[in-house]
Amino acid sequence: MDTAEISKARMVSKSHDVESSWDDEFKKLVQNFPKERSWGGSNLYFYQGFWCPSLVLKAFISFQKHFQAFNSDVIVATFPKCGTTWLKALTFSTLYRNQFPWDENPLLTFGPHQLVRFFEYDLYLNNPFPDLQNVCAYQPRLFSTHAPYATLPTSIKDSGCKIVYICRNPMDMFISLWLFAAKLRDKNRESLSLDEAFDKFYHGISAHGPFFDHVLGYWKASQENPNKILFLNFEDLKEDMDSHLKNLAMFLGVPFTDDEEKQGVVEKIAKICSFENLKELEVNKKGVHTTGIPHTHFFRKGEVGDWSNYLTPFMIECLEKLIQEKLNGSGLTFKLSSKTSNNIASP
Ligand code: A3P
Repeated sequence: MDTAEISKARMVSKSHDVESSWDDEFKKLVQNFPKERSWGGSNLYFYQGFWCPSLVLKAFISFQKHFQAFNSDVIVATFPKCGTTWLKALTFSTLYRNQFPWDENPLLTFGPHQLVRFFEYDLYLNNPFPDLQNVCAYQPRLFSTHAPYATLPTSIKDSGCKIVYICRNPMDMFISLWLFAAKLRDKNRESLSLDEAFDKFYHGISAHGPFFDHVLGYWKASQENPNKILFLNFEDLKEDMDSHLKNLAMFLGVPFTDDEEKQGVVEKIAKICSFENLKELEVNKKGVHTTGIPHTHFFRKGEVGDWSNYLTPFMIECLEKLIQEKLNGSGLTFKLSSKTSNNIASP
């Protein structure tokens, strides 16, 4: 077995073992939660309106119960496959850029997921009371989560901490997730077909889904409180990284100075965090995340519009209608391709 196979085996066994490790009290708590098979083959539990993977259900509840936010905290929040890895790298490099020499950017030696830890997939995974003071090497504290806005601990919502969210058009996100899940699936089980995955996605069933509820939850919160939540789009970052990076820095309270702009710091951050650069770094080609997922699985193509190589005309039509219906009146728009004509706006 090579490293990827070992990691896959570890990931699969972690997901499958986790439920047998639950104590009676927890088993009793979740016994009435609706349950579905995830795309990777383990269980999803419907908790507070969202499908939570069995692997992180307990961790997620601990995080909700016990996490105390500081006003200075920054949280990267995303739906899976919408650009989490990219946004972690960008936020880390922007926020801490004056805390290390540029040619020693920790991104060169650690993966974005090692530098910005998930609450539910890392910190609370095996410990309901993790030592959060020592997990962040830099200040202010920077964390991440796939938790939907509605389910965030009240201390996050009520404190002055800031949230950076990235969303992506659902067609690319769907294909990215389908291919990712196939890599994680137990080799003794058949991968989910595109039709099966589509059916689940259409009905809102995927880890941390429904997708539209997740996106709209953060979208509405960002409209109500733009100083607290910065809402970004994968496609916008691809199109115009520099102006979005400047916005991000401003939002985080660390705007680029004139000198920094003259020295090309914005472009340097964009470059070090680019798909092409991160994918080729040794650290991202080897090693595994706490959950057993190889770092390399987080880098595939990083493009806008790759869905057109996979989706059938029927799927495209269904998704276009679904997008129109879900975004209706929200003011949110998805860019489906790098051609500006191919957008779906809310009516
Ligand atoms: P694709 O599968 O479409 O290539 P997440 O980080 O939320 O898991 O999302 C993974 C997706 O983001 C994958 O999309 C991956 O290739 C892409 N990605 C990872 N790093 C990126 C980067 N630096 N720039 C652009 N896309 C990136």
